[in-house]
Amino acid sequence: MQYRHAPEANHAALDAVLASAPGRPTLPVRLTVELFGRARAHLGSPATVAVWDPCCGAGVSLTVLGLLRPGISVVVGTDVDPDPLDLARRNLALLAPGGLAARASELDDLAVRHGKDSYTTAAVAARELSPRSTPERLVAVADARDPVTTRAVLGDIEPDIVLADLPHGRQTSWFGQGSTDGAGQGSPDGTEARRDRPGAPDPRGQGATGATTAAEPGPAPEVVFLRAVARVLAPQAVVVAVGRGRSVPLPSGVRALEKVRVGHRAAVLLRAGDLFRPGR
Ligand SMILES: C[S@@+](CC[C@H](N)C(=O)[O-])C[C@H]1O[C@@H](n2cnc3c(N)ncnc32)[C@H](O)[C@@H]1O
Repeated sequence: MQYRHAPEANHAALDAVLASAPGRPTLPVRLTVELFGRARAHLGSPATVAVWDPCCGAGVSLTVLGLLRPGISVVVGTDVDPDPLDLARRNLALLAPGGLAARASELDDLAVRHGKDSYTTAAVAARELSPRSTPERLVAVADARDPVTTRAVLGDIEPDIVLADLPHGRQTSWFGQGSTDGAGQGSPDGTEARRDRPGAPDPRGQGATGATTAAEPGPAPEVVFLRAVARVLAPQAVVVAVGRGRSVPLPSGVRALEKVRVGHRAAVLLRAGDLFRPGR
């Protein structure tokens, strides 16, 4: 893949300042910025955009975007697992006015308390950074494959871009039940989204179709995810999904805006309206 929106740069400062959740791999900074730039270009490069990461983990991708890209008015991070969301809130707080300064002071204290140079280095890095966007921030628990829950969480926010680093079955897996019928009939209060916790088996075939059996496997979890996310978006919104392997499985008949390969990752950019048309 040719990088058109993300020049090569040293992002060591970001790595020092951002907290990542153990066992939850994050997307490389340059790839995150490039995919965001491509998605924005498909929208006609509007002045401001709202970005949603429906598998946000520690919120690293959203925080990277807010730190490096201007014009992000809203960031929403949701994940079916509540565990990494405190880290997501902490990372995203770096985008608030004074957030990086507060983090630098915290790192200074840690350096004194533990006598570790790495904290001093990180404090210096935090002081060198300045966020390009200071968006409204929202972090919540939600199963990305349950459109009732995700719509309720989004409220009146209309994401322009969805950027998701999908679980890939090695360090992270798909969790949750999705909606019960694929038509958006999840649990209205979100309790269903919280029911299944990490450690559950890969729910391939148990997702939004509900009625599938072992003998009749359902659609790939990525397909269930893409359809469910598109249900809650405006048709022109752009969905970027990144997976491992040669390609991201797509619903049959759906054409991608772009497909890219980077190392062992594959990414796809799709128009929400191509993924979900009411009545189809
Ligand atoms: C590869 S990690 C994403 C890391 C994230 N991009 C970051 O910046 O920290 C995949 C995430 O998907 C989450 N996940 C798994 N099943 C999900 C589901 N049904 N709905 C929402 N998130 C899910 C996992 O809990 C995990 O945090």
